[in-house]
Amino acid sequence: MKILVVGSAGHLGAAVAAQFAATCDVTTTTRADLDVRDHRAVQAVVDQVRPGVVINCSAYTDVDGAEDEPVEALNVNAFAVRVLADAARAAGAAFVHYSTDFVFDGTLDRPHTEEDQPNPRSTYACSKLVGEWFAREADRHYVLRVESVFGSSAPHDSPRRTSVDRIVDSVLHGVEAAVFVDRTVSPSYGHDVARATQALLDRQAPYGLYHCVNSGSCTWEALAREVGRQLGVEPRLKLVRMTDAKLRAQRPQYCALSNEKLSAAGVPMSTWQDAIARYLQARRPASSRP
Ligand SMILES: NC(=O)c1ccc[n+]([C@@H]2O[C@H](COP(=O)([O-])OP(=O)(O)OC[C@H]3O[C@@H](n4cnc5c(N)ncnc54)[C@H](OP(=O)(O)O)[C@@H]3O)[C@@H](O)[C@H]2O)c1
Repeated sequence: MKILVVGSAGHLGAAVAAQFAATCDVTTTTRADLDVRDHRAVQAVVDQVRPGVVINCSAYTDVDGAEDEPVEALNVNAFAVRVLADAARAAGAAFVHYSTDFVFDGTLDRPHTEEDQPNPRSTYACSKLVGEWFAREADRHYVLRVESVFGSSAPHDSPRRTSVDRIVDSVLHGVEAAVFVDRTVSPSYGHDVARATQALLDRQAPYGLYHCVNSGSCTWEALAREVGRQLGVEPRLKLVRMTDAKLRAQRPQYCALSNEKLSAAGVPMSTWQDAIARYLQARRPASSRP
């Protein structure tokens, strides 16, 4: 099976490309090879590769920056998705696209299901929701909402590390970590998202929208404390309330996602605590692993 992974230099793109490389013929493109805003170039790459699956990991992910660059966010997160989905459909390929918990307003007090009504509160979130709608133009599509991704392969001193990776880095190195005490999320280990993506395709699970997160939910404070517990250290934490953070873009406050639909499709996800344990294990030098 030929797989085209677009946006393969990102956190999720790298994990997805690595996951499929073990068993599939994978072609990857980074922004330098294929700018998804160039619609003709997208079509040309799909025509050339003739993939059985197109996986879109590219995105405009600067949540606050999108407030100043709405057109750029829409071009990458929405209109490019339409072109990718159309190209996949024309090539007879399945289309995988990733979205976000930010499509919700965060006012529910229970884990959100795929049936819950989105109500995006920021430009980034709006652009991602429109992208979800355009992804459906590929009749064989999986739209996978992920949240608080961790397990990035970006170097530890890179500004491109995810927020959760930075929290883990801080606890590991005894550095103070600023953590939200009042934002609840269902963290997503990139490797688990990549494995689930392949499992959905392998099982030919029903196409559609899935919440693809590790099971359970936590605040960033609870996550940092769990990392400390597993490492046997007391984390140094700066506790922050969302209202005090003065972020330009509004974030949903309670945004646990239910992954029951994914599980019912035969793709269960382990708990976020188990995912953190495997991530910490993977980060240990090979010589010190049991
Ligand atoms: N990270 C999270 O916590 C999180 C949470 C919820 C949802 N998501 C979703 O998960 C997906 C993957 O996100 P991620 O965390 O892997 O983000 P990421 O690390 O920022 O990766 C996005 C990739 O897209 C590339 N890109 C941006 N504009 C492009 C363009 N015009 N043409 C081609 N490539 C372009 C970026 O290239 P450069 O490297 O050159 O910038 C980057 O490599 C996205 O759909 C995102 O919305 C992520």
